Amino acid sequence: MSGLFISFEGIDGAGKSTHIAALAHAFKARGRAVTQTREPGGTPLAETLRRLVLNDPMDALTESLLVFAARRDHIGQVIAPALAKGEVVLCDRFSDATFAYQGAGREFDWDVLLTLEKWVQEGLQPDLTVWFDLPASVAAVRLADARVPDKFESQPGAFFEKVASGYARRQDQAPQRFARINANQSPEEVWKDVLAAVQARGFLA
Ligand code: TYD
Repeated sequence: MSGLFISFEGIDGAGKSTHIAALAHAFKARGRAVTQTREPGGTPLAETLRRLVLNDPMDALTESLLVFAARRDHIGQVIAPALAKGEVVLCDRFSDATFAYQGAGREFDWDVLLTLEKWVQEGLQPDLTVWFDLPASVAAVRLADARVPDKFESQPGAFFEKVASGYARRQDQAPQRFARINANQSPEEVWKDVLAAVQARGFLA
C-alpha cells in the first residue's frame, strides 16, 4: 500500500484541528496507520524553531529560512519515513503556509520561496491539500474568543486578507492538489465537505 500525504491549511481561526483529528480517526477505522503532525514542528528541532518563529520578532527572510529549516528536518525525520512505510500522513500546515504567511502576508519574495521549496522538498508535495477558506472578518471574531494570541494571531485583519490571497494564488498554481472548503459553515457541514473531498479522490473508499 502506498503512502498518502494530506496537508491542511487556512488562516488562523479557520478551524482545522477538529477535522484533522476526525480524519485521522476515519483512516484508522479503515485499518490505516496514521502519522498526525504539524508545521512548523513535528520533530524536537522543528518544535524548537517553531517557538522562535511564533514568538520572536524577525525579518521575513529569517522567518522563511527557519520554517524551511524546520520543514527539512520534519520531512527527513518523520514525513518521508512514514510515507515509505505506506502510512497516511496528516500534516497541520505545510509549505503553502509559508507562501501564504511569509510570501503574501509579509510580502516576501515569492520566487525565493519557490527556490527554497525546491531545495528543501526535492519535489515532495502533498497528494491533497485541504484549504479551510474563511473570510478574515469571521476568523477575527473566532480568534477574539480564543486563547492568548501568538505573533501571527495578533496581526490585524488586513494581514489575514493578504494571507488568504496567498492561499488562493497557491491554489491557482496547483488546482488539482487543492480542495477548497467553505469553512464559514457549521462544524458538521464543514466535516461533510472534508470527507467528500477526501473520498472524491478515492482516498477513503
Ligand atoms: P497554527 O498552525 O495555527 O497552530 P495553533 O493552532 O497551535 O496556533 O500556528 C502556526 C502559525 O505559524 C500560524 O499562525 C501560521 C504560521 N506559519 C507560518 O507563518 N509559516 C509557515 O510556514 C507555517 C507552517 C506556519
